[in-house]
Amino acid sequence: MKEQIEQLLYKVRNSEITTYEQLEEFRSEFLSKKGLLNELFDQFKQLPKEQKKDVGQILNILKQEVTEKYEQLSKQLKRELKQIEYNDLTRPSEPIQLGSRHPISIVRNEIINIFQRIGFIVSEGPEIEDDWHVFTALNFPQDHPARDMQDTFFIRRNPDILLRTHTSSVQIRIMETQQPPIRIIMPGRVYRNEAISARAHCFFHQVEGLYIDKKVSFADLKQTLLYFAREMFGKETQIRLRPSFFPFTEPSAEMDISCNLCGGKGCAFCKYTGWVEILGCGMVDPNVLENCNISAKEYSGFAFGLGIERITNLKFRVNDIRLFSENDIRFLKQFTSAI
Ligand code: DAH
Repeated sequence: MKEQIEQLLYKVRNSEITTYEQLEEFRSEFLSKKGLLNELFDQFKQLPKEQKKDVGQILNILKQEVTEKYEQLSKQLKRELKQIEYNDLTRPSEPIQLGSRHPISIVRNEIINIFQRIGFIVSEGPEIEDDWHVFTALNFPQDHPARDMQDTFFIRRNPDILLRTHTSSVQIRIMETQQPPIRIIMPGRVYRNEAISARAHCFFHQVEGLYIDKKVSFADLKQTLLYFAREMFGKETQIRLRPSFFPFTEPSAEMDISCNLCGGKGCAFCKYTGWVEILGCGMVDPNVLENCNISAKEYSGFAFGLGIERITNLKFRVNDIRLFSENDIRFLKQFTSAI
């Protein structure tokens, strides 16, 4: 019996196993219920006492080597199988998760596109500004309430430095450095010291527009804004201009569009007026032109400013402005293909 076991040990040590099938054969030959190991242990029980020690020793070695070889080989084959799967170039690839554009960016880009089609180009200016560009050059009187600490974030050590409260400051930066004709739109973020709620935030986004040339008239302003409203909200859209006041424009107006929810018939959204306000505008005040060394005798122009959040709310019916800055992916991914 000892000889038989030695032969088997030799066989185990020298058998080459490279596939699952071979490993399975090996298992059933040695390790299954009716396999050689069980058979040998049964025979071992019947041996005379004197032989037991000798045979027992070598039989245990055989058992140990068989189990070790089986375990090691099955681990190795599993690893190789995985490798093969990974290297399979014909497998379909993992789908790539694409992000989506922020609704504010979608609408900002659409506004830019609409104005670019009629020759406006994009300009940008700094968010950290000074009193001159945000207020003084725009014809705000020294004691105007908009300069109040309640609206504006000032830097405590230097009240001349502040976060811009509107993008109108970029008008000044451009007019100071360029002579007309000027036809620009200026998108950007603005800051106001407001309590955060569903309708107000301490930062939001605006697009400012400016057109300065010889003989620019209020009719040009009205036609430009009508074009914008129809491109943005549909061909049926009506506009109306209401007299208003801004220090930097004279005359000034606020523009309403016919409610794009009820088509102007009146609904809860437009408070049964049929109209919703979307922007402020006017003819650039001659004082503003002169502050930037542009001759008010030679040139005239119009300006307008609109809130991107407001336009986005109108287009997508988002009724809580805070959603735009919470970065909740469930909210943001709804806008991928909206425009
Ligand atoms: N700057 C104004 C605001 O933040 C918006 C505005 C109104 C801009 C009239 C203009 C304008 O250029 O002509 O409320």
